[in-house]
Amino acid sequence: MSAATAFTVIGHRGARGHAPENTLLAIDTGIALGAPWVEFDVQLHPSGALLVFHDLTLDRTTNGCGFLADHGFEALRALDAGRGQMIPTLEEVLDLVDQRVGVNIELKSADGTAEAVAGVIRNYVAAGWPIEKFLVSSFHLPELWEFKQLAPEIPVGALLCGVPLDWAGCALELGAATLNLSSEFVDPRLIADAHAHGIKVYVYTVNNVAEMRMLRGMGVDGVFTDYPERALAGFAIL
Ligand code: G3P
Ligand code: MG
Repeated sequence: MSAATAFTVIGHRGARGHAPENTLLAIDTGIALGAPWVEFDVQLHPSGALLVFHDLTLDRTTNGCGFLADHGFEALRALDAGRGQMIPTLEEVLDLVDQRVGVNIELKSADGTAEAVAGVIRNYVAAGWPIEKFLVSSFHLPELWEFKQLAPEIPVGALLCGVPLDWAGCALELGAATLNLSSEFVDPRLIADAHAHGIKVYVYTVNNVAEMRMLRGMGVDGVFTDYPERALAGFAIL
């Protein structure tokens, strides 16, 4: 196995360094740059739609303002999420990806998000998507637990922005395939504990090739990056 394939490169919010985050353009750009996985954020809107969007509010990434949940579906779809892109739905992203790469669906909201996402994934698996093409993650570990109960066959990743007392214990309890860890909290003991239990460690968000190499040297299995091409080029010359 080559160095490039042994280290998983995940396009963050598609390829946020090159296109407006969490848009179809960003997802397509991440794929075009060679990322074997793309990550994006999903929220359950009061209309029942699953929207691909990071913040609770519209101000930073669109020409709208205020809370996303306070706006109707059609009004949200009329907004510009950057370069004329609209806020996409989960289904639109999956249709665009069309099994070309793996998808890491991050559950941003709780209270029904797990159930709604499990329903969508079930439909796409029934239509031929392999379960290995999915990784569902969340910082909201109870919501991720709910997802795992509803769709135990789909791999999940526990998101952490800290170092828990019981190291990788939460990932183990969730039956997680991966521990997705903030670059601020990379600790060799956490990596060792995850690996001892067969859990891979991915680190977010890493845009510097020297840092990617350092993490790989520590045994980290992959990174989320806004610039997938940097990781791919960086490791091709190792
Ligand atoms: O899933 C990795 C990363 O996306 C988590 O942080 O805030 O970028 O969604 P955030
Ligand atoms: Mg995310």
